Amino acid sequence: MSFVTRRKPVEAAAHAEGAHRLKPTLGWPHLVALGVGAIIGTGIYTLTGVAAGLAGPAVILSFAVAGAVCAFAALCYAEMASLTPQAGSAYTYAYVSLGEMVAWVIGWSLILEYTLVCSAVSVGWAGYASGLIQQAGWPIPAALLAGPESGGIVNLPAVFIALVVTGLLLVGTRESATVNFILVIVKLVALAGFVALTLPAFDANHFEPFAPFGFGALTAEDGRKYGVMGAAAIIFFAFYGFDAISTAAEEAKDPKRDLTIGIVGSMALCTLIYMVVAAAALGAMPYDVFSKTAEPLAYILRELGRPAAASVIAGAAVIAMPTVIMVFMFGQSRVFFAMARDGLLPRRLATVSGRGVPTAVTLLTGLIAALIAGVVPLDEIAALANAGTLAAFIATAVAVMVLRRERPDLARPFRTPAVWVVAPLAVAGCLYLFTSLTVKTIVFFFAWNAVGVVVYLVWSRRQSRLA
Ligand code: ALA
Repeated sequence: MSFVTRRKPVEAAAHAEGAHRLKPTLGWPHLVALGVGAIIGTGIYTLTGVAAGLAGPAVILSFAVAGAVCAFAALCYAEMASLTPQAGSAYTYAYVSLGEMVAWVIGWSLILEYTLVCSAVSVGWAGYASGLIQQAGWPIPAALLAGPESGGIVNLPAVFIALVVTGLLLVGTRESATVNFILVIVKLVALAGFVALTLPAFDANHFEPFAPFGFGALTAEDGRKYGVMGAAAIIFFAFYGFDAISTAAEEAKDPKRDLTIGIVGSMALCTLIYMVVAAAALGAMPYDVFSKTAEPLAYILRELGRPAAASVIAGAAVIAMPTVIMVFMFGQSRVFFAMARDGLLPRRLATVSGRGVPTAVTLLTGLIAALIAGVVPLDEIAALANAGTLAAFIATAVAVMVLRRERPDLARPFRTPAVWVVAPLAVAGCLYLFTSLTVKTIVFFFAWNAVGVVVYLVWSRRQSRLA
């Protein structure tokens, strides 16, 4: 069989051998928390303002579009994750259905997604943390609080938080999942508080005109894309994270039941929370006012005359946003781990420590994420992370359809409902969102994958366990 089309048998993806096997320590509450921990972060806390600036009050529709696309994709993920409960997520799904070469490209895209999400959220966290540092009057030079493109030298708080989370993950999966659980609750309580405090100021007039920039993704002179779809392509960032749960499939105690609850449950919960928070923000203040700040939720509360509540929201963001970094760093290390175990990356990387942690790969991921977070601005990192994620979602939806057709015999603990409607809609929605990204982002995404294909052809293709 050619290296392009050779596939890993689906049955093999359900088993992994001895020293290379991760420990099953997570139940479904941990998985839902892992999902919510990964989903609610910089997207709702920071990008809500950016997206409102691109779509106006119709950003509510952008949330609905991005949420619907993610829901279709989530249903496909649930089927694939319960069918092949092994570390690796979309990379593994592509490997058992579309062949090694496509799997490699998806794995390479996931590396882009996961690492950049860690960096992006570290930068988002640093924005809030820097505000608190300056408020407290700590003598840290401004040049050490922002990267070069934002007028500084290095974003030290962003580097700091990326490294702290890496250290926590090295302590072990179970411990990190428990810390995550507590922080998820902090984050949910803060958002509920925001809604409760802004509702009395709700003014329906703020929703007029509803869609000042129209529906499609219109390119402006600065290269930004406006309109409902332009905003949806950015706010998409707020929704993903449920896919990271699937990378923990091997560590789930009862993968078939727990993964389905984890993926679909966390996705539905977050979509609901976002619609409510966005509506509350839009009702409290005209979108063009809060779209210009880097901390929209805290800003709105401050302007409503509630400075203490604003500080609490900012504090909650600082305390809880690291859960997103944690889950994505965790997911990244598992994708790396799966690719190394298959021989496509150096196998040394796949060794698991006595505590059940792939140490080398966790360290590597943390260091690279910290490095990028120190010097690259937030919006560019987030858009690129979206591109990698959209590629993975498309591959997963296609994988579901291919295996339904070729392997109808496989036992499917979770079946995507109306698969021939849902999976094509997931693919079409992701493609549309992809074309709504800026040209710069799309070009960089293809350049990254071109490098990946060279690495594959020169090295990985020969090292593959299937070779
Ligand atoms: N959904 C995650 C966030 O919004 C990536 O931070």
